[in-house]
Amino acid sequence: MRQSSRSKSSPGISKGWKVLSLFSGGGGLDIGLELAGFETVTCVDNDPESCKTLRHNRPHWEVFEGDIREFTPKGQFDVVVGGPPCQGFSTAGKGNPNDPRNFLWREYFRVVATVKPKAILLENVAGMLNKKNAHHIQEFLESLRSLGYCATYGVLDAAEYGVPQHRKRLIIVAGLGWSPTLPTGSKHFVSAQTAIGDLIASTDAPNHEPNCHAPHVVKRWSKLAEGEVDPNYRRGRIHSTKPSPTIRAGGGHGPRGDHLAGFHPPIHYSLPRQLTVRESARIQSFPDSWIFCGSKTAQGRQVGNAVPPLLAKAIGLSLAEGLSARYKVTSKARVRASANAKSASTEEATV
Ligand SMILES: C[S@@+](CC[C@H](N)C(=O)[O-])C[C@H]1O[C@@H](n2cnc3c(N)ncnc32)[C@H](O)[C@@H]1O
Repeated sequence: MRQSSRSKSSPGISKGWKVLSLFSGGGGLDIGLELAGFETVTCVDNDPESCKTLRHNRPHWEVFEGDIREFTPKGQFDVVVGGPPCQGFSTAGKGNPNDPRNFLWREYFRVVATVKPKAILLENVAGMLNKKNAHHIQEFLESLRSLGYCATYGVLDAAEYGVPQHRKRLIIVAGLGWSPTLPTGSKHFVSAQTAIGDLIASTDAPNHEPNCHAPHVVKRWSKLAEGEVDPNYRRGRIHSTKPSPTIRAGGGHGPRGDHLAGFHPPIHYSLPRQLTVRESARIQSFPDSWIFCGSKTAQGRQVGNAVPPLLAKAIGLSLAEGLSARYKVTSKARVRASANAKSASTEEATV
């Protein structure tokens, strides 16, 4: 069931810290930070459909649609955030160490070195910490240190931050001359049924168009128990009473284990079909008011690539608390930003 995240006022909320968002994708990180009182000013992404989504939902955000290598930041920003592409690091993919996408964090760093924000936030797959990729992290942390940043990092599971999904992500936060902290999670998990149960009866939710699977697939999936994986399609049925496994952007498999393009989320806990884009977005804790643009595959990619907004909100609240303490935000500014965050949260993140 969908619930409002509006309820409690958040103690960490302060001044509307200005955000420059790199590799913004479908905006998960940005809308989570917005719930914590931050204000995205500029987004950068080279995917036209993601840019369409950002412009559709937040027409006032400036969107640079193009390669980050051609982006020159203009203006002042308090915080630079972003999740460089992770296919090369991902344990789900082949993890090629020479994948050129593995080096895009250097572009992220180039922007940080130009802007010199008060703080930064970088998100990536936990696989970035694997031995074969560790030199990237070391180089990134050393580069930050050379500019005067103090970094903290850790792997957070989104399920511990109110997201109905186990999704482990590496989070690095750093402050210019100060050390931000990461939020502490809780084992009070939200179940998949709580998040998407009401959508079974919905015919008008946006991005909620079920796929028509072939009859033999429907037959196979009708027999799967909750939590069981179809070995042919390597696809699991989610458990109604537990958080879902990680929603991925792509990487489905055909009946002979062959790799498929497109969006292949897990199977619904009570229906013999895969989750819709909206159900997947709910599992990611996106609010229903956030519309995904582009083809169904593009919508799914944006959902599967995103930082769950409620995880981003938790990280944002910790970061905002550190920023307020470091930069001694006045109570007047605090009230103003609290109002910003309240108007953002009227859009209701799920669960
Ligand atoms: C992991 S996704 C980011 C998801 C986003 N942080 C969110 O929470 O929704 C990475 C994004 O980087 C973008 N990207 C990849 N290479 C890029 C490049 N060279 N320049 C700009 N954006 C790029 C992709 O289009 C993708 O949307």
